[in-house]
Amino acid sequence: MSDDRAIGVFDSGLGGLTVVRALRERLPAEDIVYLGDTARVPYGTKGAATVIRYAIGCASHLVRRGVKAIVIACNTVSAVAPERLRVEFDIPILGVIEPGAEAAVAATRLGKIGVLATAGTIASGAYPRAVAALSTRVETIGQAAPLLVPLAEEGWIDGEVPRLAARRYLQPLADAGADVVVLGCTHYPLLRLLLEEETAALLGPAARVIDTAHAAAEATAVFLATRGLARAPAANGAPSPRGGLSLLVTDRPNAFGEIAYRFLGGDADQVELVDL
Ligand code: DGL
Repeated sequence: MSDDRAIGVFDSGLGGLTVVRALRERLPAEDIVYLGDTARVPYGTKGAATVIRYAIGCASHLVRRGVKAIVIACNTVSAVAPERLRVEFDIPILGVIEPGAEAAVAATRLGKIGVLATAGTIASGAYPRAVAALSTRVETIGQAAPLLVPLAEEGWIDGEVPRLAARRYLQPLADAGADVVVLGCTHYPLLRLLLEEETAALLGPAARVIDTAHAAAEATAVFLATRGLARAPAANGAPSPRGGLSLLVTDRPNAFGEIAYRFLGGDADQVELVDL
């Protein structure tokens, strides 16, 4: 069994491209339709009811485009909305929290996982719940790191300003004895290098940084394969053609296109403006 329809991916804005990049590395033959809700970003500072309402708008649009499954790239949406989206829509809805939690539980040796995420994700308790469902022996320490989102948006991914912010956010995780740091927000992998350096400096050189984008891409690949939803392989064992990528945004397509091009290289051609 196979399914050649596209995978739908959405985020509050630009950050979800980290998930698109990981998906395209792991599932190069799949078509992807990406929707960034740039008109309403950020979601991480908003209440759960508002985020759920926005998420229903994004998912409805992707469903109308005929996608076979939806990957919620946004951690804040993944923290509060998957159950509601599964009630509203009749296609598989995959989030980033469970795969991230699974990778973190597998990585910790001391049984203490630190999570950096938006205020909304931390307030939801979604990461501690996901970790507790996997292991009752592992403790989760959450730390909201709101300033890292605008820093990533501005392209301030190195230098003293993001470094100081990263130190402030990582210190409580170091004080709690965590040996794993989950980057529980779409934007944080853009600052990965710096966050890895500061994690090593503050939590010790053996501490691990977990990128939920890669964990989610792996979980999506396994899900599609086991459900018979992966794209059909090319005939006669020939290499599959590379899947297409459609980029949709709700505001400022040109600005998005420039950053997407920088981020995804030649994969980002045109950006379509849509109204939800
Ligand atoms: N996409 C959000 C997340 O992963 C970060 C940006 C925002 O606050 O909207 O939590």
